[in-house]
Amino acid sequence: MRHRLLIPGALAAASLLLAVPASAAEPTPGAPGAGDPYYPEYGNGGYDVSHYDLRLKYQPKTDELAGTATLLVTATQDLSRFNLDFALDVGSIRVNGEEARFTTSGAHEVEVTPAKPLAAGEKATVVVRYSGVPSKVEVNGFTSWMRTPDGGVAANEPEAAWWWFPSNDHPKDKASYDVSVAVPDGTQVISNGTLQSQRSRAGWTRWNWRSRAPQATYLSTLAIGKFDITEDTTSSGLPVVNAYSKDLGEHEGAARASLERTGEITEWLERYFGPYPFDALGGYVPNTDTTYALETQTRPFYSPDDFADGSNTSVVVHEMAHQWYGDSVSLKGWKDIWINEGFARYSQWLWSEDQGEETAQELADYAYASHKADDDFWKVAPGDPGPDNQFHAAVYDRGAMAVQALRNTVGDRAFFTILKGWPSEHAGGNADVDDFIAYAEKVSGKRLGTLFQEWLFQPSKPKAPARAGFSA
Ligand code: ARG
Ligand code: ZN
Repeated sequence: MRHRLLIPGALAAASLLLAVPASAAEPTPGAPGAGDPYYPEYGNGGYDVSHYDLRLKYQPKTDELAGTATLLVTATQDLSRFNLDFALDVGSIRVNGEEARFTTSGAHEVEVTPAKPLAAGEKATVVVRYSGVPSKVEVNGFTSWMRTPDGGVAANEPEAAWWWFPSNDHPKDKASYDVSVAVPDGTQVISNGTLQSQRSRAGWTRWNWRSRAPQATYLSTLAIGKFDITEDTTSSGLPVVNAYSKDLGEHEGAARASLERTGEITEWLERYFGPYPFDALGGYVPNTDTTYALETQTRPFYSPDDFADGSNTSVVVHEMAHQWYGDSVSLKGWKDIWINEGFARYSQWLWSEDQGEETAQELADYAYASHKADDDFWKVAPGDPGPDNQFHAAVYDRGAMAVQALRNTVGDRAFFTILKGWPSEHAGGNADVDDFIAYAEKVSGKRLGTLFQEWLFQPSKPKAPARAGFSA
């Protein structure tokens, strides 16, 4: 049958077979979630975002937000379609300049079908035009867009992004950001990183912020309102930009007395964690009341309530500690939250000691003694607390006790080497609890499985107080 090879049609078929290896499948849809067991729908599969360019306009009177998000993405598979996480109204989507089809499903998924499939490794631009009134959009019964009398704020964890920009909403996919927002003259816009420029035209002022280092979606923030903005420089030349709502009332003094020490606190943290990982710092306090502060990258969000009783440098220490533990080194999955909260809380204990208040060991002992053995507190495993207990006190306090137990087990020398080494080991990337345990074992030369089992995973009160039996 050799002669059949001379038939042109068969030749073409044969060369086609050669060009397309048998293993190359048809392009397939990207997964609608990033595969996080806590939040299966958060994030998406099939692509990575390297940059978000958000060009928006916001009207504080009506809470209307509108504009364009341009995502620079790389396909990680042959991709027929992919999802974005987003909850506002999409007007149109273009992929590589061509109009794409899209449908919305659930409260925060947009399914995008490009005119042409993307090949694995292909770079693409995704342009999303959108609008909405974020405070009116509820997902799972809440909104993370906090309306204030003079504007609005997006800050929450893990959900915040989909009220203001379409994204691949999982900390595994970090990207750089340009955030440009036009607001009526006299209103201010706060976001992450450095303020590149600010220009007024026809009654609107456009604020251009840039955050260069890889940044998780939930650490991206936007605040609009009447702010007093202060600018300073650290001794190493980094810009310190703080912003205070003009409406903080009696909280203003304490808020300023706390945030104005951000530079000093950051330099103090550098002694433990190594060089500050970003090119700007600061903090902001909008006129909204929440029960939490948040380590939004380079520029944490604080609630006025954090300053209800006077200055609170401890919360500044906590949020700035996250810049290393959480922001530069991000979680691989939400179960790894201990690496963020345990170390941020432990930093507060070190600060207390530095300030001549209680020592870290005293605070560990106190936290240990404050919860009786039958207290539900001990049922929460900081090393895998479950989505409902992600921000349970146990993640913070038992989490910090675990850090003290580690210190007492490996000794100060190895402990402080781990504390400083970890943020550089994974700078700008992602890591999980197993990675941390392996790293601590490598640096200390000790087997630490039993210690971490007891402090991070066992659903009951560890027998030994943090100090007893653990001295190096
Ligand atoms: N990471 C924040 C902090 O360190 C906690 C955010 C809690 N978020 C929430 N919705 N309760 O303080
Ligand atoms: Zn925290």
